[in-house]
Amino acid sequence: MRCEVVLSRSEPLPEADCWLVIDILRATTTICAFFDRGGERLYPAATIEEAFALRDRLAEAGPRPILMGERNALPPDGFDLGNSPLELAALDLAGRTDAVMATTNGTAALLKAAASDTPVLPVCARNAAATAAAVIDLERIGILCAGREGASSLDDCACAGLLVERLSERGAELGDGAILALAAWRDGGRDLAALLARSVHGRRLVALGFERDLAFAAQIDASDAVLALESGAASRIVRRR
Ligand code: MLT
Repeated sequence: MRCEVVLSRSEPLPEADCWLVIDILRATTTICAFFDRGGERLYPAATIEEAFALRDRLAEAGPRPILMGERNALPPDGFDLGNSPLELAALDLAGRTDAVMATTNGTAALLKAAASDTPVLPVCARNAAATAAAVIDLERIGILCAGREGASSLDDCACAGLLVERLSERGAELGDGAILALAAWRDGGRDLAALLARSVHGRRLVALGFERDLAFAAQIDASDAVLALESGAASRIVRRR
């Protein structure tokens, strides 16, 4: 088995048999929380405008989806929710099982991976073990870090290192990006909460009062959700397990 990590979404994606997409702070952590609360379908959108249009289109054919996401870490005007996994975890979804999400980096990375025509699995630390187990028999595992505005980020890199460590226990051959992610994870003493708090985006979230989101995101293997992105007229994430 081979494992490669692409550290930012501005880099080209090499051939792979699947892409695990990480935006630990906070899109994929929030997506995981949505499915743990009983969500059934989540539609990632590239822009705020697309999110409104998609929400309206879906509402014509069925129940009105929840609109969630962020710009500059805060809920855009007219959205039902921001991008806080803890807010979502505490929310009574009241039977609303569909959501549309637009975030700065996370949904863009998911849509980029979707364009590669390869199975895409959104992942965070909370569902790391479940997701690693779901892909362990594949030959070429790709991990895409959403990063920040086209650049790499310590938070996603550390989470990628955690996944690489799990996969390398099975003897995976590592590409350079995977070796770098593993080094960041080990250099940080495998202390995910501390690594998240050191990252630029982690510090910004703490400054905005979202420190509890970091603690939630740092809970490794707290969820057994295995998520997958289905392509179609509108790509959507569903729970595979
Ligand atoms: C993103 O997609 O850029 C993030 O998830 C931002 C955030 O922390 O809300």
